[in-house]
Amino acid sequence: AIEARIDDLLAAMTLAEKAGQLTQYFYFGAAVDRDHGDLASASENTIGGVEGALARGEAGSLLFVTNPAEINRLQRLTLEGNRHGIPALFGFDVIHGLRTILPVPIAMAASWDPETIEHGQAVAARESRAVGIHWSFAPMVDIARDPRWGRIIEGAGEDPYLGSAVAAAQVRGFQGAGLGTPERIIAGPKHFAGYGAAIGGRDYDEVSLSDYDLWNVYLPPFKAAVEAGAGNIMTAYMDLNGIPASGNRWLFVDVLRKLWGFDGFVVSDANAVRNLMTHGFAADLTDAGVRAVEVGVDLEMAMADPAYGYLPKAVEDGLVAEEAIDACVRRVLRAKLLLGLFDNAYVDEDRAAEVLSDPAHREVARVAAERSAVLLRNEGGLLPLPADIGSIAVLGPLADSKRDTLGPWCFDFDLDETVTVLEGLRQRAGDGVRVDFAPGIRPAQRHFASMFDMFPGNAPEDPGESFDDSAELQRAVELATGADVAVVVIGEWQNMIGEAASRSSLELPGRQLELLQAVVATGTPTVALVMNGRPLDLRWAAQNVPAILDIWYPGSRGGSAVANLVFGDVAPGGKLPFSWPRTVGQVPMIYTYTISHEPANQAKRYWDEESTPLFLFGFGLSYGSIEYADLALDRTTVGAEDSATVSVQVANTGDRSAEEVVQLYLHQRHGTASRPVRELKGFRRISLEAGESQTVEFVVGPDERRYWNAAVRDWVLDTSTFDVYVGADSEASLTASFEVTG
Ligand code: IFM
Repeated sequence: AIEARIDDLLAAMTLAEKAGQLTQYFYFGAAVDRDHGDLASASENTIGGVEGALARGEAGSLLFVTNPAEINRLQRLTLEGNRHGIPALFGFDVIHGLRTILPVPIAMAASWDPETIEHGQAVAARESRAVGIHWSFAPMVDIARDPRWGRIIEGAGEDPYLGSAVAAAQVRGFQGAGLGTPERIIAGPKHFAGYGAAIGGRDYDEVSLSDYDLWNVYLPPFKAAVEAGAGNIMTAYMDLNGIPASGNRWLFVDVLRKLWGFDGFVVSDANAVRNLMTHGFAADLTDAGVRAVEVGVDLEMAMADPAYGYLPKAVEDGLVAEEAIDACVRRVLRAKLLLGLFDNAYVDEDRAAEVLSDPAHREVARVAAERSAVLLRNEGGLLPLPADIGSIAVLGPLADSKRDTLGPWCFDFDLDETVTVLEGLRQRAGDGVRVDFAPGIRPAQRHFASMFDMFPGNAPEDPGESFDDSAELQRAVELATGADVAVVVIGEWQNMIGEAASRSSLELPGRQLELLQAVVATGTPTVALVMNGRPLDLRWAAQNVPAILDIWYPGSRGGSAVANLVFGDVAPGGKLPFSWPRTVGQVPMIYTYTISHEPANQAKRYWDEESTPLFLFGFGLSYGSIEYADLALDRTTVGAEDSATVSVQVANTGDRSAEEVVQLYLHQRHGTASRPVRELKGFRRISLEAGESQTVEFVVGPDERRYWNAAVRDWVLDTSTFDVYVGADSEASLTASFEVTG
């Protein structure tokens, strides 16, 4: 019935109406501005006449509107304006929550817990749908192996296996059982494909990827997202091997549609169709529009003067077949019909307010933040702090910054609902514990402005001359000296990471290292809480600060979660989703390297720095004491298409409950290609009471052994000897092996 309805609509629509359905505009109208100051003026300069376009049927979709009353008003305008009654589709970057802000995506990935991730995005979907948003430009499933790239924060890190699991969980969370599931929205995995490999970690820069890397590393999370039913895919900005991704026939026709059978709609990244000209690919806007439509970029996301506005004339001039346009319109209309928008395009504004303030959502955010944190160091069991501790000095400007607690890529947050680390610790510690705070130093500033500075409050405020630098540092030192424990929050300010926020250095910005060193020098036991979305240079801290907990940007209830972790109400159990380099000069550094030379340990590659990471991929401590034993395989010889079952005993021999992510890595000893030292092929997050032991099983079958071979240009399953490693991180040492016979 849906396809017949689309046939009828297509038969009745003019070319201009069709082009309108393929056009999506940014809209920063006045009412979007719930509490972020005056955005309207900023947008009107760049984007004129969006409402007119809607009313004339020249736009079928908007992005960036989050106010339900405004969405209803714009929807009414759309429906009254077009004679076919085609509703508008509202999209938004619901990256890590709408009103309830979850930890940033790299943090969610660090939970290694698909259930937590799915649950989080289901909450984000519920809030979004309640206000009238139908579709999220998430998850970002780009593999990132260069932490200079600011968008590493939006993904799941370096590994395709973890990345695929995280991608699928997010799609399930956003979409539920598929388009049309009540209280869910369309997921839009992005940016197809290879964006994370931007040369030098510089955002939007060109990408050169071998077929080997594309198939084995960068494409798998997209495939997993498509298999999980994602309704949309977004294009990428950059050139992939010399062809702009947004006009790349191989990517969109050969791989996405033909090979993977993707039947959803594709949206361009913002202005990416127009940018086909900037790339020196398309001759003019008409050419850009024609070439994007021909590879199946269904919807153009545009700021002004969309290329797709030139499509009707291009058809008349014989430059593109109307069928190509119809195919795109069909996919956009199908999404609108599947969502049920033709029957019910409006939202209940009262209910929206209720959903946005649902306390259960804040609880989901808190639990997610607890499960995302990664304990990097805990010398002498400094953490958790005893409940009867007398006094805590909380130090560093990030400790009480609501905006930074939330992280980048969120816009509809409620600062009053945001709990900072200082607030969380104060609430949890209670009246009996003295909690003092001093920023110690002023917030660090970017050298160049951020594109998000149009949103008021995006950049940290500099306290100006009234801030006496040496007196403030002195006060922090005094508080630390007089306290039982010092908690120093260090990291990057949220505007230092994210889109267009690449860095040439991984050092702690500003005077943070100086603050940390001064505090540690007091002799007071010190805990460093790291607020980050990329690895930072923590070489000094890793030697000198007894306890380091990576809390990422933990979201709306971040401070409460951190307090629960610090006081041991819950045990940390997150694991790093990337190899944490010592210094930027080691970048890129991954755990899945191949060995090409003896000595095999590769420890001699740099003469001025270790060749190992500071912290391993998959690393993270807990409060118990985890021991692995009895790794067993149910067989030692398997046929090419068969599987082996691996089992292992995991025990908590400590006296506190613990969290662990049991990880399985695989290594193929020889074959038709050289293979990495090991690759993640299984993981399971478990909770273990003190003294508890569990058996964990993994199945290692053809899917885990298959890889794309550059010599035969195809997927292969080699006969070989395979080593299995199981343990707590990517240097898991418990090992067994099996043979795969022909
Ligand atoms: O979704 C984003 C994308 O990731 C980067 N460019 C802008 C889009 C819309 O905000």
